[in-house]
Amino acid sequence: MAVTVCPITPGFAAEIGDVDLSARLEPADLAAIKEAFTTYAVLVFPDQHLSQDQHLDFARAFGPLETTIALFRKDTKLRLRQEFADVSNLDSDNKVWGENSRRRMFELGNRLWHTDSSFKLLPARASLLYARSIPPIGGHTEFADERAAYDALPEDMKRRLHGLVAEHSIFNSRARLGFTEFSDEERQNMPPVPQAMVRTIPENGRKSLYLASHAGRILGMPEQEGRALIDQLIAHATQRQFVYTHRWRVHDLVMWDNRCTMHRGTRFDDLRWKRDVQRATVSDVANSCAQEGIAVAAA
Ligand code: OGA
Ligand code: MN
Repeated sequence: MAVTVCPITPGFAAEIGDVDLSARLEPADLAAIKEAFTTYAVLVFPDQHLSQDQHLDFARAFGPLETTIALFRKDTKLRLRQEFADVSNLDSDNKVWGENSRRRMFELGNRLWHTDSSFKLLPARASLLYARSIPPIGGHTEFADERAAYDALPEDMKRRLHGLVAEHSIFNSRARLGFTEFSDEERQNMPPVPQAMVRTIPENGRKSLYLASHAGRILGMPEQEGRALIDQLIAHATQRQFVYTHRWRVHDLVMWDNRCTMHRGTRFDDLRWKRDVQRATVSDVANSCAQEGIAVAAA
């Protein structure tokens, strides 16, 4: 039976049914999923029963996988394979984290609107987040459609943004929360990187804003002016009409296109409930400036 694509919103999120992601996919089914991923940018696959390997194998159908930035810390004990971003509230013994634990403070960055790994020169193309356990209240994930947000900009703003480049860094998003506890090794391994502020999705030619709380200064602009513009654009792009809120059920796998969406997690009682969500992340093919043909002088 062929996969079914059922829109959740008219053009942003869709549910994919009649598919078992634990098994090798028929080429026609994979093609249908890729096509839906281009049309929509958020796909929900309900009721999937996946081992870590099966989750990673499905993700690999979309390209090479990232490894977790937690490896840049010597004190890390991984709960999951190194290809996963552990987005749960659990420590390496599967216990709920401590109130003042470093990981809790760091992961609070996921409450800010962002797109994954824009702080890497080669950012993330797709993320595939799988829920093994979820809290009864809260802990949703909100997604913003940055293609629709771009389309809705006034023409003079579109002209202004053309060719602009922002500097992204994980230290920017964490600094917004007052978090600065990074090791020298982390600082050396994650220098700020340039990213185009507007990008074109090659599969369909649609233009999209490319924003994140990782973005700091805009090249060629006074720092304060750049940051003000980024905040204004994030506020624009996350208006309710551009947002789909995913309310998780256990065994959902949700896949999104980081090139043209932002997301953030909503609050829940994370000292009481386990929220075990695990993310496989597919790398993009090139830096966004390179894809847009924007030459950036080396910093
Ligand atoms: C992520 C992320 C938010 C959430 O997995 O990249 O930001 O709701 N998740 O867990
Ligand atoms: Mn994220």
